[in-house]
Amino acid sequence: MIISLIAAIGKNNVIGIDGDLPWHLPDDMKFFSRTTKGHHVLMGRKNFESIPKKYRPLPGRPNIVVTRNPSFEAPEVDVFTSIKDGIALARDRGEEELFIIGGGEIYKQTIDLADRLYITHVEARIDGHAYFPDFDPSEWNKEVLQDHPKDDVHNFPFRICLYTK
Ligand SMILES: NC(=O)c1ccc[n+]([C@@H]2O[C@H](COP(=O)([O-])OP(=O)(O)OC[C@H]3O[C@@H](n4cnc5c(N)ncnc54)[C@H](OP(=O)(O)O)[C@@H]3O)[C@@H](O)[C@H]2O)c1
Repeated sequence: MIISLIAAIGKNNVIGIDGDLPWHLPDDMKFFSRTTKGHHVLMGRKNFESIPKKYRPLPGRPNIVVTRNPSFEAPEVDVFTSIKDGIALARDRGEEELFIIGGGEIYKQTIDLADRLYITHVEARIDGHAYFPDFDPSEWNKEVLQDHPKDDVHNFPFRICLYTK
């Protein structure tokens, strides 16, 4: 099973502020949606709760949530108290590509397991509360998938890259 991390990161690796995203980039959300659709997605409890209630669990994808709280429950979601067990569920079900969708705590603990990184590089430097871990691009093969300008609905330009090992 391929393990992929997918994230939108600022120039300073910021990914979140006050439990929310630091930007509004609908075309990146569309990329996220079409890339992850049909695949298991694994996320931290804080990321799960940051998704507006009407959009969670994320549709068309089995959602796996990790928390250290053994009594945490959410409808139509598989909950685990360890990341390893969450990954094992996807593998046991025959998933070909698992997407780890954050947030910061979860990316940090899984980047060493990743075969692929789908990174949206956002041309923004914003102070936040959650960050993507440092990674060395020279250790990865990089393919640029999309360049997107700033416009009326996208408050920053961004470039989507796929890093593979
Ligand atoms: N830009 C992006 O691409 C992107 C993507 C995703 C999220 N985000 C942003 O990131 C922020 C959230 O990130 P975050 O770092 O604060 O939180 P997070 O990684 O989403 O979730 C952290 C929580 O996950 C659980 N957890 C962590 N490690 C665990 C482990 N080893 N075993 C079991 N459970 C574990 C704990 O839940 P309990 O506290 O319940 O025990 C912990 O509090 C939000 O602002 C969100 O908008 C941005």
